[in-house]
Amino acid sequence: FNTIDEAIFDLKMGKPIIVVDDEQRENEGDLVALSEKVTPELINFMITHAKGLVCTTVKADVAERLGLSLMTSQNTDPHGTAFTVSVDHQDTSTGISAEDRSCTIQALASKETAATDFKQPGHIFPLIARDGGVLERAGHTEASVDLAVLCDAAPSCAICEIIREDGTMARVPDLQKMAQTFDLKLITIESLIAYRKKHEIHV
Ligand code: 5RP
Ligand code: CA
Ligand code: ZN
Repeated sequence: FNTIDEAIFDLKMGKPIIVVDDEQRENEGDLVALSEKVTPELINFMITHAKGLVCTTVKADVAERLGLSLMTSQNTDPHGTAFTVSVDHQDTSTGISAEDRSCTIQALASKETAATDFKQPGHIFPLIARDGGVLERAGHTEASVDLAVLCDAAPSCAICEIIREDGTMARVPDLQKMAQTFDLKLITIESLIAYRKKHEIHV
């Protein structure tokens, strides 16, 4: 695995990284990139090589400003993943192309946008991170927002689960192979928790 500092370096460069959660949790690797650095090319890479659901993580105050109410008031997901109603930016066409999704993600991370800039429902799934980040909840949602804060970037990332060629979930050995193939950094949420505790970082 790589260090958190190495991951921060790549994220700041606009590169995606792989973030894996605990084996006892989802045991899943997500491709993660800073929302403010997202491009159509990067979304195309995500949907081609990660193949999961493209989501965008946001903080609770941003969700409130943008009128992103929870997808369901009765969350029965085992991990309580905080999906909101899906959205597209007003300037998008069908909302699903790499270019359209990149546009929506950028707009979700921008301080300049308001609720009226988005159509509901759409093709990007915002996820609300808990305040306190990975110290409160060890999910990809919080990990990605924490990483964005550590990058001094807008507190939002585009994230997408990594699925193997045969359609089954990629596990650590597969993720290591992918990291090598595409020269990507690979970190654990466990190490991010340790990093935050060590540096006493408040996000
Ligand atoms: C959204 C998901 C993914 O698992 C994503 O990683 C966010 O969830 P969590 O914060 O629970 O890890 O379900 O597609
Ligand atoms: Ca999940
Ligand atoms: Zn996850």
